[in-house]
Amino acid sequence: MTESTAGFALQDICVLGGIITDFICYVDKEPASGETVLASDFSQGFGGKGANQCIMAARMGASCHMVGKVGSDPNGVETLQNFENHLVNKDSVEVDSSSHTGVATISVEKSSGKNRIIVAQGANKNVDAFFIGSHSSAFENCRVTLAGMEVMQDAVIEALRRAKNFKRTTILNPAPAPNGFNQELFNLADVLCPNESEAAKLVGKPTDFIKSVEDAKQVARDLRKYGAKTIIITLGEMGCIAMAEGSENIFHVEVPPVNAIDTTGAGDCFCGCLAFFMARFPKLALEEKIRRSCAVASVSVQKRGTQLSFPRKEELPAELFQ
Ligand SMILES: Nc1ncnc2c1ncn2[C@@H]1O[C@H](COP(=O)(O)OP(=O)(O)O)[C@@H](O)[C@H]1O
Ligand SMILES: [Mg+2]
Repeated sequence: MTESTAGFALQDICVLGGIITDFICYVDKEPASGETVLASDFSQGFGGKGANQCIMAARMGASCHMVGKVGSDPNGVETLQNFENHLVNKDSVEVDSSSHTGVATISVEKSSGKNRIIVAQGANKNVDAFFIGSHSSAFENCRVTLAGMEVMQDAVIEALRRAKNFKRTTILNPAPAPNGFNQELFNLADVLCPNESEAAKLVGKPTDFIKSVEDAKQVARDLRKYGAKTIIITLGEMGCIAMAEGSENIFHVEVPPVNAIDTTGAGDCFCGCLAFFMARFPKLALEEKIRRSCAVASVSVQKRGTQLSFPRKEELPAELFQ
């Protein structure tokens, strides 16, 4: 199917998710409770899991449509410009004058590259099912819909329902994993793609439950019992495990060791790439789509920043696009 009902050529990816401005402090060591530490470096960047995923997919060369909200403030204006710079269709990014653009304060520990994040959702909180209803064509006009949970859960459900009604492929990145995850989402997502802590939370286990590939496999089997179709759990430097729809076999995709200096946004880089390979290379084996997405994500962790660390197609090996 290459045309929408309106007769337009389909676009590749519609992303529904959080749009946030990141304020990143680089610290030698995370502060303990009640402690103040001085950051050695600071940067402000474009963020939000949804926006990151959309920008990554666009950098891979996908035609993308973003759905979400910003506030009527300078951060919102800059964010819209960033979408425009990446040729992302922003017709469904509304400026919400009743709120601020979402913000995140992020600390990155220099020694490990590990991050801690606090999000003030702002306009993202007003992305609800009603809003999705007025932007339905975005889900119709794109081959793949990729959704995340930094917006209202009823919006995610409505978006995936609409995408499925239009017979489109759906990917759900259940991040951050909400309390009270609606079980219908297991069925609405063709691909469920959490990281290790989100996956554990979805099956009612402690967020630090997964410490090994074997633990992750156990959680994948539990997710399948809840009705999840294709399951991909990203495991940081351990790569990913995956279980394809209709199969009980779980395979592990390893990533070669790299010098990780900032893992912020690694999961978003992975999800954006996965959406790209699903939209542009649907016939490629699942394992190969994952291997290629991991390859790009491991490039991104070797550079500082979130979107700043995402490579462009021209910087990546040509084999990834064959
Ligand atoms: N330290 C690392 N070394 C190499 N690759 C990494 C590293 N951290 C993350 N990645 C890559 O990024 C993907 C997503 O990272 P992960 O940490 O699981 O997601 P999230 O950012 O959502 O926590 C991994 O599957 C892997 O391919
Ligand atoms: Mg991680």
